[in-house]
Amino acid sequence: MFIRKVRLKDFRNYKDQSVELSEGLNVFEGENASGKTNFAESVYFAALGKSPRTAHSKEMINWAAKQAYVYVTVAKKFRDHEIALSIDSKDKKRLLLDGLPCSKLSDVVGVLNVVYFSPDELKMIKEGPSERRRFIDISLCQQSKNYLYALQKYNTVLAQRNKLLKSGLGVNSLRETLFVWDCQLAKYGAYIINKRYLFIQKMKEAAKKSHLLLSGGKEELSLSYECDLGFDDTEVLEKEFAQSLKASFEKDTELFFTTFGCHRDDLDITVDGTDVRKFGSQGQQRSAALSLKFAEIDLFEEETGEKPVLLLDDVLSELDENRRSKLLEMSSSLQTVITCTEFEEKVSCTRFRVKNGNIS
Ligand SMILES: Nc1ncnc2c1ncn2[C@@H]1O[C@H](COP(=O)(O)OP(=O)(O)OP(=O)(O)O)[C@@H](O)[C@H]1O
Ligand SMILES: [Mg+2]
Repeated sequence: MFIRKVRLKDFRNYKDQSVELSEGLNVFEGENASGKTNFAESVYFAALGKSPRTAHSKEMINWAAKQAYVYVTVAKKFRDHEIALSIDSKDKKRLLLDGLPCSKLSDVVGVLNVVYFSPDELKMIKEGPSERRRFIDISLCQQSKNYLYALQKYNTVLAQRNKLLKSGLGVNSLRETLFVWDCQLAKYGAYIINKRYLFIQKMKEAAKKSHLLLSGGKEELSLSYECDLGFDDTEVLEKEFAQSLKASFEKDTELFFTTFGCHRDDLDITVDGTDVRKFGSQGQQRSAALSLKFAEIDLFEEETGEKPVLLLDDVLSELDENRRSKLLEMSSSLQTVITCTEFEEKVSCTRFRVKNGNIS
């Protein structure tokens, strides 16, 4: 798939801006604070209904306006789709898909698929497990509505279960009440774990291949999903999940939160056998993060039959020449949006100049 057109109205520092993208490499050059990341953010927003930078969508409304609008035309194999999103000052978001209003914002997820990379994405490697789970979840949610649904349900049930644990109920009544929540948590949790295992299993080879390319054949990357339950079919996992919840009941009541579940899982990432999360050099960590993203692209195509759009915000300047040209080579087969202060690579591309919230 590729984006034909983006129009921004009162989005961040853009008043009313239309941009027509080419199918290949689109480079957005501009000084610091000109609006490059803002543009990349708007595309991410059209794909996932949220910002990669903030949980408060209203921050994306231009300071002088009351509402922000993002319109994106996506070309897919069989037809084009029009995404129209708005945000108002109460943080309320509205979505029109092909001109029809949608009651759920999550209906936008999957229409436009993006793989997003910014220097911030390094958190995925360096920081705690939640960042790595986020990576897996965002990818799976874009691939499958069922996964998105299960994840939303799981998080709601988990929040309610934790609320109960904090409510001050006695141990006996807790034991009885929690049972209902545990069944739900086990049901959705087992589904999520199963999907994540399969995802990482498939991703392994692709990530290894990308990392080998990026590192000039020097480094071997390996991935594995870290979970207290082993890989199994969903039914078996559901039973084991429920048993583990039961077994951690005492601990949960002492600590007032749910200590077992897939909200605690992690992704193990090693380069040549050492844990890159803890011991990797900056360059290795950056390459590992990029390799995961390229593996994500491969899987997308396998699952959906379409290539996603690649967004690379401010990534080139941090890579050495070799890795830079490898990266451009790897992204040449899909629509790519690159933002940078200056683009000096000798590859054919459509260039845009960004200046004070204007793109020309
Ligand atoms: N809601 C908003 N309304 C108006 N302007 C905003 C809003 N949010 C951010 N800005 C401004 O947009 C400007 C451009 O931000 P952006 O992050 O896109 O810059 P950039 O081109 O990516 O710069 P850099 O090269 O430093 O990454 C910033 O100066 C910021 O003050
Ligand atoms: Mg920026």
